[in-house]
Amino acid sequence: MSVHDILRMGDPRLLRQAEPVTEFATPALDSLIADMFDTMHAANGAGLAAPQIGINAQLVIFGFKDNQRYPDAPPVPETVLINPVITPLSDEVEDNWEGCLSVPGMRGVVPRWTRIHYEGFDQHGVHISRDAEGFHARVVQHECDHLIGVLYPMRVKDFRQFGYTEVLFPELDPNDDD
Ligand code: NI
Repeated sequence: MSVHDILRMGDPRLLRQAEPVTEFATPALDSLIADMFDTMHAANGAGLAAPQIGINAQLVIFGFKDNQRYPDAPPVPETVLINPVITPLSDEVEDNWEGCLSVPGMRGVVPRWTRIHYEGFDQHGVHISRDAEGFHARVVQHECDHLIGVLYPMRVKDFRQFGYTEVLFPELDPNDDD
């Protein structure tokens, strides 16, 4: 297990369409996922996508009980989601703040579907099928965007609501590196 460097915006590897995972329950996949959790936890992230550590696979992880980067966020179940498919459950979209470990030190307001259904597989190949709303739905949409080469600033509509975290939210822990 080890902590990897997280690619930052500007790296072309963050702009690729990720490839589907075809082999499940392998030592290599287990090792990659362990490294991703180590990397996400070391950065206090709410989620991480494989392309962010340079692995061009349709694999994301997310989840936390409480998160110092998002102190008001409700818990999200710790999840490994592979080859995901997202379907909105209504037309309703809501705006809220997002950050990204690949865009350190910044936050922006991004519109996302309020309620979604998502499907995919865990690392053992077990099918996952869930409905989600609010912050949970937002995290899934953000992470899955990484699999199609989309970073959240590309979805910001109003750049007056995009800026440095320490300026926008001075109450957040300044030692938090994002
Ligand atoms: Ni991100």
